[in-house]
Amino acid sequence: MTDDRTPSASSATAPDGFPPSPGGHDPEVLRRRALDALLTARARTTALTDSVDEAELTAQHSPLMSPLVWDLAHIGNQEEQWLLRAVGGREALRPEIDGLYDAFEHPRAARPSLPLLAPAEARTYASDVRGRALDILEAAPLHEGGRPLERAGFAFGMIAQHEQQHDETMLITHQLRSGPVALTAPAPPEPTDAASLPGEVLVPGGPFTMGTSAEPWALDNERPAHRREVAAFHLDTAPVTCGAYRWFMTDGGYTDPRWWAPEGWDMVREHGLEAPLFWHRDGGQWLRRRFGVTEPVPDDEPVLHVSWYEADAYARWAGRRLPTEAEWEKAARHDPATGRSLRYPWGDTDPTPEQANLGQRHLRPARAGAYPAGRAPSGAGQLIGDVWEWTSSDFLPYPGFVAFPYREYSEVFFGPGHKVLRGGSFAVDQVACRGTFRNWDLPVRRQIFSGFRTARDA
Ligand code: AVJ
Ligand code: FE
Repeated sequence: MTDDRTPSASSATAPDGFPPSPGGHDPEVLRRRALDALLTARARTTALTDSVDEAELTAQHSPLMSPLVWDLAHIGNQEEQWLLRAVGGREALRPEIDGLYDAFEHPRAARPSLPLLAPAEARTYASDVRGRALDILEAAPLHEGGRPLERAGFAFGMIAQHEQQHDETMLITHQLRSGPVALTAPAPPEPTDAASLPGEVLVPGGPFTMGTSAEPWALDNERPAHRREVAAFHLDTAPVTCGAYRWFMTDGGYTDPRWWAPEGWDMVREHGLEAPLFWHRDGGQWLRRRFGVTEPVPDDEPVLHVSWYEADAYARWAGRRLPTEAEWEKAARHDPATGRSLRYPWGDTDPTPEQANLGQRHLRPARAGAYPAGRAPSGAGQLIGDVWEWTSSDFLPYPGFVAFPYREYSEVFFGPGHKVLRGGSFAVDQVACRGTFRNWDLPVRRQIFSGFRTARDA
């Protein structure tokens, strides 16, 4: 198999070094995985939309976000466009609504004033689409020689990822809403050996394989696999904690322009920023609001809801810097013992609850040092799950990038305006999170489940 082809069932090892995902690319295995991923996503969507009443579903909780009912029908509409029409060749169920749910036609702030489907209609629409999509999945030829959208079940995997990405977006809306508590979840596992962990790990210099050409459901921006030279560097073993971040705050971090990129300093002054989003001072103590509960800020939990500018300023204050995207991926995937890049820090197998905090199982990051079973060969931990990690890199295409299946997924966002985040958060499902997965956002964004770790040259 060569670097630029869709994975084949016949190849034992992919060119980017790792063997095909468990079960290989057997169409029947992928069909089952696709079914499972679609059902898992819908269970999440249902939990997020059944936990508030109708008025709350149609309300705009923040001008930054859509009403939850928009996300619900948009999920159905994307599924209809790709699985029913593009793969299944079906006629549009409701052609008149396509425009309403086109994210490019209507900015989030304008969505509440659109003639959106009411909650009951949106639910019926999404479930009608789903019933037909499952029929199409059952019959679709997912084999190697088939159409690119169907090969290895790509379109079905893409749509499951799309729904899970909106489930994360809807969880952000839940975090922004006020009112009675709607969602609860058990606490994540506690670290066991945090006290003995070194503060940083050394990643030796040399080339590694970045991106993938073999992961069947990798999105266009993760492709193709290519070699990258990365000089030796040190990386924090765990994400920066709230306690460490408070040292930055008490040391005047938000009042000293020396630490800030010029646009970041403008943002601090314009909005009077003095702490991460959702934090407030109560006497001598910092509290935070988390899914409707006010609680003391926990010192040893990764800091959350910081912008790229805040992460960048903290790193400069600490005499360090953010890692580049290539550094992050090398620390997460490169296995010096074999010279290959792993699917995940711990190896090639899908995440287990012992390895990573994913999928909204816990509604917060685990304390720094948790998930010893999820550590990478570099020694760094909590790279997958917990908090999205800002990198210093702009969102740019890899050499040989080809937009697929639509330019609006990634290509229109490439450029210096968006910074890359890596590793996923507690809010994203494993289907939309892997060692190669790339997220991006504006450097001012703070409502997302974003944190960071720092690096320095070796
Ligand atoms: C990859 C998370 C930046 O939410 O804007 C959802 C994912 N693309 N629908 C976003 C996405 C189209 C995207 N991010
Ligand atoms: Fe979308």
